[in-house]
Formats: sequence, structure tokens, C-alpha cells
Amino acid sequence: MHLTPLHLRGGRTLSGDVAIQPSKNAALPIIVASLLSSEPVTLHGVARLSDVYTILDLAHHVGARHAWVGPHSLTLHTPEIVSTVAPYSLVSKMRASFIILGAILARAGEATVSMPGGCAWGPRPVDQHVKALRALGAEISEDGGNFSAARRGSLGGTFLFELLTVGGTHNAILASVLGDGVVTLENASIDTDVVDLINFLNSLGAQIEGAGTNTLTIRGVPALRGGEYKIIPDRIEAGTFMIAAAATRSRLTLTNVRPDHLRAVSAKLGEMGVDILESQDRLIVDARDRELRPVNITTQSFPGFPTDVQPQMSALLATVPGTSVVQDPVYPDRLTHVAELQRMGANITVSGYTQVIQGGELHAAPVKAADLRAGAALFIAALTTEGETVIDGVQYLNRGYERLAERLRSIGANAWQPQPVLANAMD
Ligand code: EPU
Repeated sequence: MHLTPLHLRGGRTLSGDVAIQPSKNAALPIIVASLLSSEPVTLHGVARLSDVYTILDLAHHVGARHAWVGPHSLTLHTPEIVSTVAPYSLVSKMRASFIILGAILARAGEATVSMPGGCAWGPRPVDQHVKALRALGAEISEDGGNFSAARRGSLGGTFLFELLTVGGTHNAILASVLGDGVVTLENASIDTDVVDLINFLNSLGAQIEGAGTNTLTIRGVPALRGGEYKIIPDRIEAGTFMIAAAATRSRLTLTNVRPDHLRAVSAKLGEMGVDILESQDRLIVDARDRELRPVNITTQSFPGFPTDVQPQMSALLATVPGTSVVQDPVYPDRLTHVAELQRMGANITVSGYTQVIQGGELHAAPVKAADLRAGAALFIAALTTEGETVIDGVQYLNRGYERLAERLRSIGANAWQPQPVLANAMD
């Protein structure tokens, strides 16, 4: 479906409180993990995002039934797996769906999932997912664009990831929770979304030790019970609003945040001259009347500077006088925002995964988001310009930012999305 573009008239400061949505990237694996239990599971803190609806469609296809029981609360129930096949039509909508392989394999003993393919910013391999499951005893074959996995008995053994992967760690955990084997994952991701998945699974009776460290030990259990769980706040959305405050030289209070999940972003903004005040679940970002300084940034896995706020940071730095260097070795091709920011007057030169940014003033222009965080970079850039920017590709923003125009308006931005004009049935 083509959605109408987002319109933004910038040049205003923002102010007030913004409640950060629950984490998209924690919700997706936790919804998949609910497939491991035959009893009902209620999740609180589920953001109403198109990616969440996509994973719910996939869960439905394999046997889960769900009901929204509150604005951000959802009950899921999977008495049995009715299909062990996750088809291309569903998996291709969202790459993160690939982790359903581990969950179906664990619950049903076999699973077939389409290869997820690449995305707008290049190939996104799943070799570590496959190597991990193989090393733990699953048989995996590749045929006609699908991966099929089967296991005889429980998974067990040790696997050392060749690199830190969030999704690979999710998949291996999901595959190993049920049964009577013992699995050790070394060089596992310590990302906040991995920790949240482990906390959720342990709350249902799983036995996973080592959350937040690089070595995880998973002792299989015969079954998981049902339960209730609250998902963590979205650190990437929080980072996006922090950068929006800096770009508009504003003061914003973020509520429902985990400041400890945002240390790398806070440190960089602090280095630029932004004041950040932390309390338990709030962050105050104050950039009023500041002369911001350029900085150099290299992305890393958590707790390093997140690749998921690299485009937004590039947009901010494009408005800060001086030379900044931004490098994204995690996703070297994550650069679709650059040409669009250039249309708005940004001076960015790219070499490999390095952007050299000479800060200056941006101007409004019609632009197009080719992926979620590129869209975020564009709305941040638009907030700094006097004219009207029209951002196409809103379907990408809807994947990760809930009710964006409305929430931007609530902090003083002039943002709107015209309603689509429906053809008159009588015409
Ligand atoms: N990698 C491999 N082989 C693999 C898996 C990953 O080489 O089998 C590489 C990737 O190419 C990348 C690095 O490992 O260079 C890290 O990738 P990771 O597996 O950690 O990423 P992911 O699990 O596919 C999640 C988020 C992304 C986020 C990355 C990195 C979800 C649904 N997605 O992806 O979020 O960029 O971690 O932190 O959790 C977003 O929200 O905009 C988004 C893209």
C-alpha cells in the first residue's frame, strides 16, 4: 500500500515530554519465543508497528492466535504448531522473521524458512545462524530458496560465533531452550534485545545463564509455562529523539527510557556539547543555545555506538559546522540516507563505509526514505530547515516509529501526513 508522504515544516525548537515506545527489536524475538509455549503468554509493552504486525502474521500462520488486551498489551497462544513452513511471502517482508527457524525447530522438530535475502542497504547474511544450528546437532539443507532444519532429539554442544550477531544469537537460543541437552554459546551477543529475550524465556521456566555476557549456557527444559512479561523501552527510538533534540537545539524530556541502554549515544552527544541528565527512567536532553562541535563516530555492537542511529547522527552532523567522520563497519552499505541528505544541501563524501561530513545549513526538499533509519535521518534533517520537506517512503517509518507525526506534533514540531484521497465509489 502506498501511504501519503510525511510533511514537515522545520525551523522550530521542540519542547516537552516524549514517552518512548516499547522496543521493536525486543518485541519481535519475544513474540517468536512465545511459540515455544503451549500456554497463553501476555506481553506488555508491544509497540503498534508494521513490523510487529508482520511477525504476528507469521506467528498466526504457524499456529499462534493473538488478541490485543490493551493499547500495548497482547496475549498470544500457540496450543500447537500447525505449519512448520514459514513462506517467502511472509519472510520476505521482514528479514528478522528468519529467527522463527529456531523456534519452530525446537517446538516441532523440523522447520522450513525462506532465505531472507538482502535489503536496501546490501546483503545481510545468515551464515552464523545456520552454522550455529548445525554445530548444535540440527541437520540443515538449502533448496529452492529455503532452509530446512530437522533435529533428532535435543540440540547440545558448544558453538563459538565468528562475529557478534543479535539475530544469530536469538536463533540459537530459541532452538536450544526445549529438550534435555546443554548448549553453550560463546562470543554471543550482549545486546539489550538478547538480554530481554533471555529474561522473557527464563520467566516462562527456561534455564539460560549468562545474559549480558558473551557466554550463554542453555539447559533444555521439557516445556515452558505461560506467563506475563513487560518488554524494554526502545533504545533506538530514544536515540532518535535525543538526536532530534540536539539537531533543533532544543530541550526534551524522554520518559520510559533505560539510560543505561543509551550510554554510547549520550556520550557522543555530550562530546558535541549537549547536556544529558539521567534519572532512573528519564533522560533530559538540553541543546538550547549550544554551539555544537563536530565528532567522529564508529559503530559497534552493543554497548558501542549503534548502527541503528548512524543515519540520524549523520543528519545531525550535517548541520554542525566543522568536519565529522562517521564510519559504519557493522553495515558498510547502510548509506541510503546520504543521497537524500545531499538533496537537502548536506556536504557528505563517502568512501567505503566512511562518511566525511562538512556541517552547514540544510534546506527543505522532496526526499524519499529507502529504509527505516534513513527515514529517521530525513525527518531530523527536515526539523532543522525553515521550508517544507516532504518525505516519501512513510511505510518504512511505520515499521519502527509509532504514530510519528502525532508524537512529533506533541513536542512542537509542525508535522502532518495528509489523509489519502479515496476515489468516490460513484465516479
Ligand atoms: N552477520 C553475518 N552473518 C550472520 C549474521 C550477521 O555476517 O549470520 C553480520 C551482519 O552482516 C552485520 C553483523 O553481523 O554486519 C551484525 O548483524 P546482526 O545479526 O547483529 O543484525 P540483525 O540481528 O540482523 C538486528 C536489528 C537491526 C540492527 C542489527 C545490529 C532486529 C530486528 N534487527 O539485526 O535493526 O541494525 O541488529 O544491531 O533486531 C533496525 O531496527 O533498523 C535494524 C535494522
